[in-house]
Amino acid sequence: MRTYICIFALLAVPQLAAAAPFPKADPAAGEKLHSAANCAKCHGARVGGDGSRMYTRPDHKVTNPSKLLAQVRMCNTQLNTGWFPEDEENVAAYLNRKFYKFK
Ligand code: HEC
Repeated sequence: MRTYICIFALLAVPQLAAAAPFPKADPAAGEKLHSAANCAKCHGARVGGDGSRMYTRPDHKVTNPSKLLAQVRMCNTQLNTGWFPEDEENVAAYLNRKFYKFK
């Protein structure tokens, strides 16, 4: 069993590199979740426009992938969407791909 997991990890390495830092997440699913929830509405009420300036404002708070995931969780809790942890990772992966670009 352990050998099997190791082989799997080796095979998965190139994909990990491509999708880091949220290797198991699905950014496309995250994009759908992000627009279905009211994330942008609340952000937009604070920073204007479509709310994406929340992620790009010069003094934005998120400076690494774990802070990104933590902030998605925190905001998500306020919305009470009932997302699973995988959903939160998908959204973090989407925001990373589109805005943060952490490697
Ligand atoms: C009730 C209002 C509200 C809702 C709803 C909300 N957010 Fe936020 N969000 C905020 C506020 C306020 C901040 C800024 C926090 C700060 O500056 O410390 C923020 C900041 C963030 C940041 C960090 C931006 C940065 O780099 O500084 C992320 C990422 C984020 N929200 C994701 C989400 C996601 C994903 C959702 C939808 C599930 C969501 N938020 C829903 C209010 C909200």
